[in-house]
Amino acid sequence: MNAPVSKKLFIRTYGCQMNVYDSERMSEALTGAGYEAVDTPEDADLVLLNTCHIREKAAEKVYSELGRIRKMADEKAERGGQMRVGVTGCVAQAEGEEIVRRQPLVDLVVGPQAYHRLPAMLDALESGKGAQVVTDFPAEDKFDALPPRIRRASPSAFLSVQEGCDKFCAFCVVPYTRGAEFSRPVEKVLAEARRLAASGVREVTLLGQNVNAYHGEGEGGTWSLARLIRAVAQVEGIDRIRYTTSHPNDMDDDLIAAHADTDELMPYLHLPVQSGSDRVLKAMNRKHTAESYVRLIDRIRETRPDMAMSGDFIVGFPGETEADFEETLALIDAVRYSQAFSFKYSPRPGTPASTAEQVPEPVKEERLSRLQDRLRVHQVRFQDSCLGRVMPILFEKTGREPGQLIGRSPYLQPVHAYAPDTALRQIIPVRIDASFPNSLSGTLIEDIS
Ligand code: 5AD
Ligand code: SF4
Repeated sequence: MNAPVSKKLFIRTYGCQMNVYDSERMSEALTGAGYEAVDTPEDADLVLLNTCHIREKAAEKVYSELGRIRKMADEKAERGGQMRVGVTGCVAQAEGEEIVRRQPLVDLVVGPQAYHRLPAMLDALESGKGAQVVTDFPAEDKFDALPPRIRRASPSAFLSVQEGCDKFCAFCVVPYTRGAEFSRPVEKVLAEARRLAASGVREVTLLGQNVNAYHGEGEGGTWSLARLIRAVAQVEGIDRIRYTTSHPNDMDDDLIAAHADTDELMPYLHLPVQSGSDRVLKAMNRKHTAESYVRLIDRIRETRPDMAMSGDFIVGFPGETEADFEETLALIDAVRYSQAFSFKYSPRPGTPASTAEQVPEPVKEERLSRLQDRLRVHQVRFQDSCLGRVMPILFEKTGREPGQLIGRSPYLQPVHAYAPDTALRQIIPVRIDASFPNSLSGTLIEDIS
């Protein structure tokens, strides 16, 4: 299917890292079908919006973006060209045919499990078959049908190992849009890790909506995430491993142990808690308590004392009182997050919490801003605690200033340093001399020119 490159493809990606990964894979699939990725939509032959449904007004935002794209498509048509438009991702899954009804400009609607069908859907379009909508969960494995990974600019890459979620938190659409938990077989993950390493990747982030529930088939039976991580660590060329996103109840002892016995596994963990109130956690159907979460983190830090914690928080979940909210602030102080993501609760159609009585918007706003102030205090403290330390930095790209490179610390912080281009893709010790809320800067302690 190696057609000559002739058409321009633009993909706009919203939402999570899973979508970033999926956009890369779609782009690779379409490269084989004669498309070349471009950075702007104006002149593209195919525009894909890879959408996210997790929060506020997701579908409305997609429709207004489609309105803007419609103008570009009209202008292109006046110049005698044609722009095909597709909607992919979780809004595509949730809205399906409705998207084509509301915006007839759209030629393709493709749910997250059907991306490998894109080239065939484009062929069907070209042969005049009209708008193509695929939102089912096909029996075949999309990863088998997607082409192998191609040479990559960055030494860090995402690698999807698990999709979907069986947890059904009361606020979340993921179990509906991404479906039930599914783990890729071990051999497929390892083969992709080897291909990534061969293309110059040194750091992989294993991705899944509930990645630590990984239970893929491998030699001798079902493998846990810990076992998978140890096997990926054996892949020649892979020096750093991360994983995201995890549920507290799936952090098993072996995964905690892997943080101590596997050097490649980085000391950074994104472990959403959502709330520090047991009453709210129960209403959220989280199936853990604030205390069990804090105890879990204590155990993780006994194993790996320098573990940097990240998390997700929701404020203003239905029924959340001021006292509940203050328990969340107390949990933040107990955990001392190095960074975190926080959101106002937004009712998602079809989820259990969406019909409950809502906390007023001004209360949500006020709590979000207090929560973020508290998170910032700990983030800045963590950043400052890095001053004077020497850290191994994986240099990923050039910075804005001439001679400057940007890399990542083991704790996922961006680090700026002056270094020759030969340092790109290398892991090099850097002494941290300055800390900022979202980045660090430092100096190489060895001459590498
Ligand atoms: N409202 C607000 N935040 C939400 N999240 C998921 N669903 C909602 C919602 N309905 C947040 C959670 C989750 C992160 C990916 O997005 O914190 O961990
Ligand atoms: Fe959503 Fe995560 Fe809960 Fe699954 S574990 S339902 S993805 S918030």
